[in-house]
Amino acid sequence: MNLKPLIGLFAPAMLLWTTPDVHAQSATTSFNAKLVVHVDQAKDTINRNIYGQFSEHLGHCIYEGLWVGEDSPIPNTRGLRNDVVAALKQIKVPVLRWPGGCFADEYHWKDGIGPRAQRPSMINTHWGGVTENNHFGTHEFFDLCEQVGCEPYICGNVGSGGVQEMQQWVEYITSGGISPMTDERKKNGREQPWKLRYFGVGNENWGCGGNMTPEFYADQFRRYATYVRNFGDNRIFKIACGPNGGDYKWTETLMRQVGRQMNGLALHFYCGTGLKSRSATLFDEGDWFFLLRNASHMEELVTRHSEIMDKYDPEKRIALVVDEWGAWHQVEPGTNPGFLYQQNTLRDALVAGVTLNIFNGHAARVRMANIAQMVNVLQSMVLTDKEKMVLTPTYHVFEMYTVHQDAKLLPTELQSADYASGADKIPAVSASASRDAAGRIHVTFCNLNPNAAAEVTCELQGAKTQKLSGRALTAPAINAHNTFEQPENVKPAEFTALKVTDTGFVATLPAKSVVVIEAE
Ligand code: AHR
Repeated sequence: MNLKPLIGLFAPAMLLWTTPDVHAQSATTSFNAKLVVHVDQAKDTINRNIYGQFSEHLGHCIYEGLWVGEDSPIPNTRGLRNDVVAALKQIKVPVLRWPGGCFADEYHWKDGIGPRAQRPSMINTHWGGVTENNHFGTHEFFDLCEQVGCEPYICGNVGSGGVQEMQQWVEYITSGGISPMTDERKKNGREQPWKLRYFGVGNENWGCGGNMTPEFYADQFRRYATYVRNFGDNRIFKIACGPNGGDYKWTETLMRQVGRQMNGLALHFYCGTGLKSRSATLFDEGDWFFLLRNASHMEELVTRHSEIMDKYDPEKRIALVVDEWGAWHQVEPGTNPGFLYQQNTLRDALVAGVTLNIFNGHAARVRMANIAQMVNVLQSMVLTDKEKMVLTPTYHVFEMYTVHQDAKLLPTELQSADYASGADKIPAVSASASRDAAGRIHVTFCNLNPNAAAEVTCELQGAKTQKLSGRALTAPAINAHNTFEQPENVKPAEFTALKVTDTGFVATLPAKSVVVIEAE
């Protein structure tokens, strides 16, 4: 296929920092791309947990973002904000990781149970040195998961906590037998044990979780994980602390030494930020390119860590769990630097779309991922300010991509022009396809080029299309974002630039857009 020469290259002058002229040119230019979808070769299922979330005791994620307390004038159910819970239900959050992050390795769960007024306070040393009153603890977390309709994923304390402490937490949550922990839970108002499947044995133990070497952590994992017991018919899926980005030695060591004891290995990778500007909203096209290039690096990370895992686990029994990922920008001016409160633009929506397409493509190995974080921290779904709440562009991507949850991954071949900055380039289009239980085919596309539309010819091999529909997320400016005053600057709209063909469809993806197409 003849691809038109790339027209979306930006002039070198744009690389100089100026007050950003963030209104991209109207997309009168275009380039071609071709996608072949092998509908007849579906094999792997896209685990819905790829669309998971992460909530830490950090800034206003838990307190004010999710938890306002029963006496708050903000409408709540047992202390949990009704507006935020309702928004999260819409994106079908499948799984939620808690209580950290770095906080997890300093958290002592017994401080977070019993009558709230009697719970001890602690200093949240990692995140702003603020007082943590422990009003949100184990019972409140399980209530949150029940209200949102997601599975809990708890991260235990290896860095500063004991083996017995971890053992007892699992017992407190899941035991129905006769034991001091079961009695304690009943005394605190919960008669029946909860179900808990996902349990992380420490967080970033190569860093904030104890600065361990992989060899030392492997031994710690072996010891702690031994006491993470299965009570009754509850079965725990044990997730080991995995590598920091491209630390392949960590993966190799863990797989070699404790591969047999783990069910999942957690990878963390944040992409940040811009070439020159670290601001979430004030950036130019050079920064746009830089961040999206960094986000696209997830493909290499997942591929290379998977190759190492394949060596020790060719059956793919162990899941690669990307339990922290997303864009990390400068905090919003005037906010506590330890609270990691950042705005979220169309650029972040593209980061989410590209990354989720990558995870889908690796569905056989990547079986959970948790974006950081759910509310008011880093690349969040929603932002809150007292009684106000706004949905971010990233939220809308998660909502558009719900169609992939538990659907069959359809193998794809994509040919696309590159989007380049100087000598650096990335594919201008990213795509992923799946077929749901009702037989509908969904293709999600990202056009990373902010200056040119992508004319995509899509061949659906092994399927006959009769009906098409679509939605697109885009905006006039590369830094478009939603505010409490203007909450609908960036939101999905019906997408009609598509046509059925004999072999599939053609679609014209707007510049800088995320698009979902449904074919029946
Ligand atoms: O998500 C914020 C922090 O980033 C987490 O606490 C930590 O695990 C990571 O370094």
